[in-house]
Parts: sequence; C-alpha cells; structure tokens
Amino acid sequence: MRSPRIIALTASLLHVASALDAEALTTQYFGNDAPWYLDRIPLFETSVPELQEVYYYRWGLFRAHQRDLGPDGFLSTEFINDVSWQVSPWAILINAANYHLREGRWCRDRRFKEDYADVLFGPNANPYQFSEVMADGVWQGYLVDGVVEDATSRLAAMQTVYNGWNASLGFGGYDTSKSMYYIQPLTDATEYTIASIDASGGYDGFFGGEAFRPSINSYQYANALAISNLAALSEDSAVAEEYQDRADTLKTLVQEHLWNSTFEHFIDRFYVNNENVTYWDPIRGRELVGYVPWTHDLPDDTETFAQAWKHILDPEKLAGSNGLRTNEPTYEHYMQQYRYEGDHPECQWNGPAWPYQTTQALTALANLLDHYPTSTETGIITKADYNTILLQYAQLHYNENYNGTLNLEEDYNADTGVPIVGLARSPHYFHSGFIDQVIAGFIGIRPRADDILEVNPLADPESVSYFRIEQILYHGHNVAVQWDGTGERYGSQGLQIELDNEIVATSDTLTRLTVEVTRLSPPETNRPIALSIQLAQDTEYPVGSASVSNADAAEIHAVIDGRVWFYPEIANWWDTPVGDGSEIWYEINFGAETEIQRAEIAFFEDPELGFDVPSSYRVQVLSAAASGEWEDVDVDGEYEDAVGNGITNVSWASVGTERVRLVFTPVDGFAVRLVELKVF
Ligand SMILES: *[C@@H]1O[C@H](CO)[C@@H](O)[C@H](O)[C@H]1NC(C)=O
Ligand SMILES: *[C@@H]1O[C@H](CO)[C@@H](O)[C@H](O)[C@H]1NC(C)=O
Ligand SMILES: *[C@@H]1O[C@H](CO)[C@@H](O)[C@H](O)[C@H]1NC(C)=O
Ligand SMILES: *[C@@H]1O[C@H](CO)[C@@H](O)[C@H](O)[C@H]1NC(C)=O
Ligand SMILES: *[C@@H]1O[C@H](CO)[C@@H](O)[C@H](O)[C@H]1NC(C)=O
Repeated sequence: MRSPRIIALTASLLHVASALDAEALTTQYFGNDAPWYLDRIPLFETSVPELQEVYYYRWGLFRAHQRDLGPDGFLSTEFINDVSWQVSPWAILINAANYHLREGRWCRDRRFKEDYADVLFGPNANPYQFSEVMADGVWQGYLVDGVVEDATSRLAAMQTVYNGWNASLGFGGYDTSKSMYYIQPLTDATEYTIASIDASGGYDGFFGGEAFRPSINSYQYANALAISNLAALSEDSAVAEEYQDRADTLKTLVQEHLWNSTFEHFIDRFYVNNENVTYWDPIRGRELVGYVPWTHDLPDDTETFAQAWKHILDPEKLAGSNGLRTNEPTYEHYMQQYRYEGDHPECQWNGPAWPYQTTQALTALANLLDHYPTSTETGIITKADYNTILLQYAQLHYNENYNGTLNLEEDYNADTGVPIVGLARSPHYFHSGFIDQVIAGFIGIRPRADDILEVNPLADPESVSYFRIEQILYHGHNVAVQWDGTGERYGSQGLQIELDNEIVATSDTLTRLTVEVTRLSPPETNRPIALSIQLAQDTEYPVGSASVSNADAAEIHAVIDGRVWFYPEIANWWDTPVGDGSEIWYEINFGAETEIQRAEIAFFEDPELGFDVPSSYRVQVLSAAASGEWEDVDVDGEYEDAVGNGITNVSWASVGTERVRLVFTPVDGFAVRLVELKVF
C-alpha cells in the first residue's frame, strides 16, 4: 500500500468562490433544457476542447436515456428507442448497466441510479439476458455517495442473481469441473468474436462459440466482491466471507487458466466442443476483452501480466489509428462482414472499435496506472497513453455520417473512425461510459469506501494546460478539483482540491492527493411520480388520444411513454398537422378520477424542419360535476411562454379528474412536435 498524503481538513484554509458559471455552461450545452442539468451535473472545463464537448454531450445522452416508468421510477436505456430484443415494455437491456451506473454515480441527483438499481434487481429485469456487472455497478455508486442503506438494500437479490449464474443456462453458466463461468459471445454482448466464428468453422459466429472468457469471469469476480463488501457493511460476515472466497477462487483460476503466455494476454478457452473446436483449447488470437480483468482489478500486479499492455499500443495489434480494435488484423476473419440488415453491416466484434470495450479498456488502464506500481514501473504504458486513448475515444463521438456532429453509435472502423452499423436504431447509443473515464481517470477522483477523498489525476501536463471540475457530490460533500499548469487560467499554479468551498490540498504538480472527509448524508432525493406514464401501447389506462382523427397510434403513445429527448435524428413523439389557426388537443385519460396539479410539457423546436412551439396553450380537465364539460384549470399565475427543446412547466390548483387535455394552437405554417406530456 502506498503511503497516502493525508491532509487534515481545517476550516481556516482559504475560501474559494465557484470558478465556473453554471448557468452559462448549462445554457451553452443544453439550451432551453439547461434547468434539467443545472443542479444535477458536475461542471467541467479543460484546455482539451473535445474532452469538454463530449463530456457535456454524454450528460445529454444520460438524460435522454432516462426512461420514466411512473411509479417504478427511472431506468437507463441502451438504445434510445425500442428494439425487438429488449425486455418489453420497459425497454431493459442489462449488458450496459455497469456503465449506466458508473456514469450515474456522478449525477448529483441520486434518484436515477437508485431507481435503476431497484429495477435491475426487481421483478421486471431478466438478469440472465446478458452477462452482467450489476452488483459491482451498485457498489461503485456507493463508493461515491457513501449511502449504506441504499447500497445494501438489494443484497438478497444480488445473491439470488449471482447464484442463478451457477446453473447451466444453455447459453452460458458455471462449469463445475473447472469452477469457472462460460458464455456464448452473443450473450456476452459481443457476437462474432474469435470463439464464435471459429466454432462455426469460419462460417458464421452470431450464435454459439461458448467459451470461458476473461469478461464473464471478471464480472463474476467483481460481483462477488461487491456482494462481499456490501455484506460486510450489513455486518453479515458469513455472506461476506463466502463471496470473498468465490472472488479469490475466480481470481486464481483466471490467472492460471486464461492467461496465455504465448500471447502474453488473457484470452478465452472454448467451452463448446464440436467438429471445429475443442473444449478447453485456448482461442487463436488476442482480443480487447483481455483487458477486462483489470477493469475489475482482478490480476496481480506483476511484470508478466503487465506485458499485455504492449498490445493496446501496437498499430499491428489492437491499436487502430482511430480506435481500439476488438481483435487483431492477423486473425483470419478479422473484419470479415457476416451479418447485414438489408445492405447495412450489422454488429460484429471481429475487429471494429466498440465504445463498450473501449470504456472497459480505459477503466482497466486507469486502474493499472493508479495502483499497479510494478506494472507501471515497466514503462510499457504511461499516463500519456491514457490521454491519447481517451482523446481518440472522444473523437469517435464526432460522427462522419452526421456531418461530424456529436452522435455516438454502436461500432466503428478502428482505422478510419467511421461508423459501421448506422441503422435507424443507432443514433445516440448508450452502451458505454465516458463521464466516469473523465472523472475517475483523467481527473482521477478515485472513490473509496473509507472516509478519504483521493485524487490522482491521469491528465498529462504535456497536453493539458488546465482543467476544473466542480459540484462533485462525494460522501455528502461538494468537491472541486482544479489544475492550472501556469497560473494563467485560475490565478494560481498547480493542482488544488476544494471541499465545500475550502481549499484543502494543493500540489505544484499533477500528483496524488488525499483528504480526510467526514461522511455526510447527501441531500434528500426528490421523487415526484408522473401519473401519465404508459409503457406499452394499446394497453390499459392511462391512454392518450388527440383531436386529429388520423393520428398515428404509435406517435400518440410516444407522448406518454416516459421518454424525453430532443435529438432530431430519431423520433419518439407526436407531430401535429401544420398550423392553420385552429386549436388542437392531446388528451390523457387516466381511467379513474385522479388528483393532478402540474404538468411538464416537452416540445421539440426546429424551424428548418418545420416545427415550432405553439403560439398558445392551456390545460383543461373534464369536470366531474357536469359530465362532458371541459374546463380550464385554475392555473398558478400565468402560463409561461412555451419553450422548445426543453421543459415547459404548468401548475394549477389541484383538481380531481378522469381526463386532462393540453389544448394548443400551432403557429401558422408550422407543426408542433409534442415529445412528452407528463402530468403529476
Ligand atoms: C456454485 O458456484 C460456487 C462458486 O461460485 C461453487 O463453489 C459451487 O460449487 C457451485 N454450485 C453448483 C451447484 O454448481
Ligand atoms: C464447422 O465448420 C463448418 C465449416 O467449415 C461448418 O459448415 C459447420 O457448421 C461447423 N460446425 C458447427 C457445429 O458449427
Ligand atoms: C496459447 O494459445 C495458443 C492457441 O491459440 C496455443 O497454441 C498455445 O499453446 C497457448 N500457449 C500456452 C502457453 O498455453
Ligand atoms: C449534412 O450537411 C448537408 C449540407 O448542409 C445536408 O444537406 C445534409 O442533410 C446533412 N446530413 C446530415 C445527416 O445531417
Ligand atoms: C419544472 O418544474 C420542476 C418541478 O418543480 C422543476 O424541477 C424543473 O426545474 C422545472 N423546469 C423548468 C424548465 O423550469
């Protein structure tokens, strides 16, 4: 263990004012939707423009993927809209849940990650839909907020899920003869890997190819440790020990059996045994998934294992010129396209750069650089490399197929940086992390279970002249971290940590600093429940309808489906006819008398596409007394002007009604695009 530099918190240190202008930054990046972000996200700026822009783009992505389930709170979606293989009607896909939770842990509003964890470990998710790192995701969130009761509340469900992987599930499971986990690459969220292609004799690779993979065994290692740690917090030492043992066993076996000294890499061994491949044989190439053990701190810190990190930097191996390859050009079926939808190439993992695994590799590298001293002393890989890979990853977010605008999709040609799949479902795909790689890696806030704030920036002073992040909520405190290489940006040279607006630690160089913090409860979570949400089309109440007779049923449903985003590329809304001066309405029928008092209305606006906010709007309810009479609600004050690409709030004197209407008049010559109407 390194000897941390503990700086006791003293109240006498210099008081600092906020250096960043929250209103200006959130307005710059989010326009009319800025109020959603204002109190929720840490503010960040840096001399590296792409890191700053993509950081805010990623918060936009996070917000766009928060699906409101009404009484069940929020979950994070992976595809922005429905796909056929999700768990419906919730739109759950669990394979990216660890990223969603690790991004969400930096949101000051804990509701999103907490609600999501309840969904993931609740009755509506299928925990065996894909390999998963859900328990670890919850643990990682706890390290930031420090709230024991919330993190431990799912301990029983976590054990049930964990033990479910112990069975033979058809597509994966636990092999008692090896005491390790195996999985079909498709179920590991990575179809067309070496294992699945070679098991098919090079013929396909979508299904099949079950293998003992570095991924699932590291995931189960991380989940076991999370359960053990959470059990220890709950003072359940039996469970804590049992899962610590499971983790220890997996660690030993992964190191013993999945490390291939010829390749100097962690690689799969086949579980499948058929005419083309043999059970327990190692696969014949290196893959990016071989870094996942470090994502979860599994490997020992040795010079031997450190050799794996040569391959991520080698242009002949995993280092494409615009992204990290998922396997190497020497593989016989590298980049061979097997699967299409129509003319469009579909997802494959035989070479393309995937944000999903790039995220894992960056977290792995941050762990290595932070707490693998023997490995880093080899000099094989450095902080400068972390900066290069992070920047290259940021640049992938600028999408050539959308004129270079920020729009992340599934996978990319690692040499050109051009998206490969680009289907209708693809825009703004949330299957990866970035915020966590900035905050826990580049800035280096290393969340801990004890009462220490530790900052170990990986930012490279050669390429970064300044950065500042503030409004990080850590163990109930407001944290800011600032670096100024020259003193020209913030008026004082060096690295500085602020705790609740006091400077508590400084250094002239970018180096590790630690600060003692007393643990405080974070602000109370506000959990308003929208009463209007309907997840499935054509089911029971609440149900939407409109005054326009031929309105599309899917569009009408989209207005109450709990999804709010303003990206023009992918639709989830109702478009009205072009305005001609007449009023139209959208109605929600609750099916029973319901007490309501406010609404959040999301209008899209883009005059070039023919959409404007309505010139006027009002809210009406169906009077209970005189049936059939629509009455204006008793609105609080005046109706605000409608805003586009943001939330228009209306509140009124609480009223009981079965049906509510938003009545509005489109501007002449423009249609109204109603994204969502939430009623509370
Ligand atoms: C379940 O997995 C644990 C290791 O995690 C192992 O010790 C145990 O034997 C397994 N049980 C069965 C029935 O496979
Ligand atoms: C083995 O490879 C051949 C192609 O060489 C393929 O036709 C066959 O389906 C493969 N076997 C299995 C079980 O996938
Ligand atoms: C590494 O894997 C290859 C198969 O791809 C195998 O030929 C080689 O023997 C393995 N190395 C060791 C030391 O097991
Ligand atoms: C890219 O820009 C061109 C020229 O402004 C425009 O015609 C085209 O629609 C844009 N494409 C996309 C996908 O936004
Ligand atoms: C709308 O009202 C909600 C609830 O009071 C509030 O959180 C939100 O910031 C408001 N939004 C805007 C754009 O004013």
